[in-house]
Amino acid sequence: MRNPQLNRNGELTHLLSIEGLPRAVINHVLDTAASYAPLAENEVKKVPLLHGKSVFNLFFENSTRTRTTFEIAAKRLSADVYNLNINASSASKGESLLDTINNLSAMQADLFVVRHASSGAPHLIAQHVAPHIHVINAGDGRHAHPTQGLLDMYTIRHYKKDFTNLTVAIVGDVLHSRVARSDIHALTTLGVPEVRVIAPLTLLPAGMESLGVKVFTDMAEGLKGVDVIIMLRLQNERMRGALLPSAQEYFKHYGLTQDKLALAAPDAIVMHPGPMNRGVEIDSSVADGKQAVILNQVTFGIAVRMAVMSIVAGA
Ligand code: CP
Repeated sequence: MRNPQLNRNGELTHLLSIEGLPRAVINHVLDTAASYAPLAENEVKKVPLLHGKSVFNLFFENSTRTRTTFEIAAKRLSADVYNLNINASSASKGESLLDTINNLSAMQADLFVVRHASSGAPHLIAQHVAPHIHVINAGDGRHAHPTQGLLDMYTIRHYKKDFTNLTVAIVGDVLHSRVARSDIHALTTLGVPEVRVIAPLTLLPAGMESLGVKVFTDMAEGLKGVDVIIMLRLQNERMRGALLPSAQEYFKHYGLTQDKLALAAPDAIVMHPGPMNRGVEIDSSVADGKQAVILNQVTFGIAVRMAVMSIVAGA
């Protein structure tokens, strides 16, 4: 079956998930983003690639980084941007998701950026809209957060240059993390030889090894010699029942402190998609330390989201 994100020529027309994307498509996004990154230094940061296009940001879940950087990215591409206030929209009166989409499409939408608590919502929208409308998944349930995965790859490539000699550790609440899934698919597609996940058993989905990763429940063992550490937030809002004794106990075993960071390669970088919970998954001295590239990830996210929007729109 054809990948629903690619057109008949194998070009990206929606971005719904990193799973199944060819390496060449991922590299095209990263290379395009690298060509946009220097714009940030210009007095005028805009290019006219999406001039006249209407981008609708539909965030049915809260967001700071993703929503704002999508808006900045769309404006830098000269698009007109509309941020639907979901709480004040007719979704709160019972209008269905697809009826909302139909009405926004009738307002000449060209591109929908969608975050939704339900896994698969962006796929549903992509199947429903007219062929000239593009859909970008900005995070759906536990399923995928493809632009976060792509900006994470951009960050790793920026600091480490070559994916094919790296050991990358993803640490924390893998069970509920759409970022972990997108990162794992991206890292394995780009040829990272060793991807580790480190978590307590209660926060690990079954069958992780089938994704091509090594599983560790011991943080010290898992961090030994790694080049990149991606920390994950405990997603309390997605947990059903108590999966951990307490946040303090979690920090003791899985929180990234300077002592634990010292087990990684001396030039290891520390990443986090945000929002961070200091003192739960990461100590402030690490989050603000010299190996952290967490705020750089946010900045790179603008160029990466510009790349994704311009590519899907064929600009
Ligand atoms: N990384 C991320 O998705 O952050 P936001 O929830 O703030 O968008």
